[in-house]
Amino acid sequence: PQRADFVVVANRLPVDLERLEDGTERWKHSPGGLVTALEPFLRARRGAWVGWPGVADTEVEPFTDEDMHLHPVPLSSAEFRDYYEGFSNATLWPLYHDVVVPPVFDRSWWDAYQRVNRRFAEAAARVSAEGATVWVQDYQLQLVPAMLRELRPDLRIGFFLHIPFPPVELFMQLPWRTEIVRGLLGADLVGFHRPGGAQNFLWLARRLAGFEPSRGQVGVRSRPGVVQVGDRTVRVGAFPISIASAELDRLARSKEVQQRAREIRRELGEPRRIMLGVDRLDYTKGIDVRLHAMHELLADGHIKAEDVAMIQIATPSRERVEHYKQMREDIEREVGRINGEFGRVGHPAVHYLHTSVDRKDLVAFYCAADVMVVTPVRDGMNLVCKEYVACRHDLGGALVLSEFAGAAAELTSAFLVNPHNLDGVKDALLAALDIDEAEGRRRMRALRRQVLTHDVDRWARSFLEALGTPHAE
Ligand code: UDP
Ligand code: G6P
Repeated sequence: PQRADFVVVANRLPVDLERLEDGTERWKHSPGGLVTALEPFLRARRGAWVGWPGVADTEVEPFTDEDMHLHPVPLSSAEFRDYYEGFSNATLWPLYHDVVVPPVFDRSWWDAYQRVNRRFAEAAARVSAEGATVWVQDYQLQLVPAMLRELRPDLRIGFFLHIPFPPVELFMQLPWRTEIVRGLLGADLVGFHRPGGAQNFLWLARRLAGFEPSRGQVGVRSRPGVVQVGDRTVRVGAFPISIASAELDRLARSKEVQQRAREIRRELGEPRRIMLGVDRLDYTKGIDVRLHAMHELLADGHIKAEDVAMIQIATPSRERVEHYKQMREDIEREVGRINGEFGRVGHPAVHYLHTSVDRKDLVAFYCAADVMVVTPVRDGMNLVCKEYVACRHDLGGALVLSEFAGAAAELTSAFLVNPHNLDGVKDALLAALDIDEAEGRRRMRALRRQVLTHDVDRWARSFLEALGTPHAE
């Protein structure tokens, strides 16, 4: 098979194999912001994508999806449990999200993590042409850069972390902290969303791996720092990810989507205001925070269920992991409680959908919503809030956004909230629900300026330029 000049390596392929009950199989779009961001870019460059096809114990041959070459990496069900559910999502995910729940440190999970990372590195080595650029993605594959460099010293290797990089005191809890840092230092460029993450990593590289960051460059805003590893130079920098803003803007203006947005409002009984939340069902997303705020606002009499409808789209995610199960139960209990107290027959106060909706429908929901509520306790970037802004060419709508989302650094004209301060969240929701038109337009105009000028293409090009590859163009 032909080898590729530009290769993305991520835990998931951009499509997921789904087994239906009747035994048939079909491919569907994979969940999460990583895929949203990278897929259009890689398609345009006809690159290759190395990733897991989404079901365990299944071998899938490489195939071409339009212009993209997909190279499936298999996982056994034991590896799915230990590498994916275990080390990736019950150790690293909570540790990197400020230990919102306690991370579990399990030595057999670490063994599986190393083994699977090696398999991804070997697959990437097979697929890459001489001198190719390989872009490794996210926390599931932090050992791949060093493993791949050993197999293929001719490659240019970039790594990007899509979730927050934690404060050093938290990272230092990890029993395998040195191995992870050395794994990442196999790359030529290590990228984070925020300058703080890059600084933390530089500090840890010096402390744990014994490499001196060159003086003067550390911590310079949005200019990459440098770690010297023997005679190799590893650059470290912040590259805030984004969305395909222009494409969403176009979609939101289409007749079909506008029509569907009007239908959504009608189906809800034309309430005065619609609030919307869209998240993977994840404990970092603060879905509980907004439900508690809504509950209290209804109980205080500040809002009435016949005036304000809330829609929460909660996409299923990592469903067998304990804290995810617990969170789902808590959220669904709270939705039930709110509807029991404040709903009427045919008119629940909270419309809760435990499902994934497709792009067009999602854009219609964004267009129909007066207030978008994004309240994570910690989020690397959060693309949903940027998508909402890109869809509001009418300058309508208001965004309530957690300070603890990476996006808050850019979207400063949102109603910024501390999700731990319930009164603050309630005040922001009320202010957003009652915003006067001129003020709303002023804020939305400023938000749009940021999102439309800083799109995902700009993000990818700036990363690849810093990596020094011709694929930046
Ligand atoms: N998304 C989707 N369908 C849904 C819910 C979400 O396509 O039903 C997409 C959403 O448009 C966004 C991504 O999933 O592009 C979520 O990215 P984000 O960065 O907000 O969060 P993540 O899930 O990566 O933590
Ligand atoms: C986040 C992570 C991605 C991940 C996605 C969906 O966006 O940064 O790496 O793919 O969530 O999660 P999942 O566990 O279903 O792949």
